[in-house]
Amino acid sequence: MRVLIVGGGGREHAIAVSMKKSSRLDALYCVPGNAGIAQIAECEPSIGVMEFDRIVSYAKEKEIDLVFVAPDDPLAAGLVDVLEEAGFRVFGPKKCAAILEGSKAFSKDLMKKYHIPTAGYETFDNAEDALAYLEHASLPIVLKADGLALGKGVLICNTLEEARAGVREIMQEKHFGDAGNVMVVEEFLTGREVSVLAFVDGKTVRTMTSAQDHKRAGDGDKGPNTGGMGCFSPSPFYTREVDEYCRRYIYQPTVDAMAAEGREFKGVIFFGLILTSEGPRVLEYNARFGDPETQVVLCRMKNDILDVVDACIDGNLDKIDLEFEDNAAVCVVLASDGYPVSYKKGFEITGLERFGGKGDYYCFHAGSRLDEQGRVVTNGGRVLGVTAKADTLAEARRKAYEATEWVDFANKYMRRDIGKAIEEA
Ligand code: AMP
Ligand code: GLY
Repeated sequence: MRVLIVGGGGREHAIAVSMKKSSRLDALYCVPGNAGIAQIAECEPSIGVMEFDRIVSYAKEKEIDLVFVAPDDPLAAGLVDVLEEAGFRVFGPKKCAAILEGSKAFSKDLMKKYHIPTAGYETFDNAEDALAYLEHASLPIVLKADGLALGKGVLICNTLEEARAGVREIMQEKHFGDAGNVMVVEEFLTGREVSVLAFVDGKTVRTMTSAQDHKRAGDGDKGPNTGGMGCFSPSPFYTREVDEYCRRYIYQPTVDAMAAEGREFKGVIFFGLILTSEGPRVLEYNARFGDPETQVVLCRMKNDILDVVDACIDGNLDKIDLEFEDNAAVCVVLASDGYPVSYKKGFEITGLERFGGKGDYYCFHAGSRLDEQGRVVTNGGRVLGVTAKADTLAEARRKAYEATEWVDFANKYMRRDIGKAIEEA
């Protein structure tokens, strides 16, 4: 099989590594890719994920058998539909199904209509009504831009002042662009957060092992929200009891609801859950693999990923049993200091060769590129996802932090408490 991955972050590197293990893979391509992916696949850095015509031409030129669309923006904008119309076999939800992530108002209304447990909410399409509502709302309260906002369009407001400022940012000053034309105001929930990724073929859902992301930039969950600063898998808080509840009330009902709405979902659904004292609730859906969840989940999956992808496309997922190693993984993101607000890039990354030949260690590239002299340099806020596997979470954590010392670049920054919750469990 000749496979093209669309995307260029740590998630796509982890998907590429997983595909390289498949005996069915003949050739692997990636657009735009990055310096890490370029070691195992042919990349075309000049093609952006939103350049649909160029992606179609590239796929034709390379005689691609399967296109795997990983990031949210092209999924929400209908890249899967465009590629299918051009005759390609594609993994990922069509535009009408990717709305599960692309519009928070849509997903909240879906959950309400089909009684899927989630936080109470109201939706607003103008700032005046939102402000009037907030005058009498209980605090803290959560404001969410309806559309895609790089994982940053959620504001948790502790005071009425903060809430008023949030409405200004989202709906009036449009900090998240058109994503803020509509805003969801949501009840604040407390509890442990868990991410569960699942393969879906339109009717059957097969969940992967659980994971937990760390979204805030600083230790102790302080500072601004980021795309994710690190992750561990499995989550010790995701018990058998929680799993049974979610299967019954969340996973299958979501897939069935999408089918009932005429929006058959094929691809990966990411269930962002919060375990409240009243039971698990859905915080958000993503219509794709998570980043950095993928880095800690796929490295533990025993199945051939191409078999699973085929089953999703062909509607045979009921024939597949997903299997995961009975171990744990931790990913620590090495970021550019100042991320997500402002940071410099273009610094040389040294020490990458130290990961060579070490089975349980992975250095997934997120923001890296090859410069004119062929050196690997930083090229984004999140630079590398240093990942390690071990028998226990504590040992995986120790190994991941050990490996963060192997690599260096001028403005290297990381959180020091990724997976610390494990030690408190
Ligand atoms: P989301 O992108 O919707 O997952 O939101 C980003 C983060 O905001 C989540 O991972 C939570 O930490 C937090 N969050 C979102 N919604 C709520 C809520 N209703 N109550 C408390 N925290 C929330
Ligand atoms: N790690 C969260 C996300 O991928 O949206």
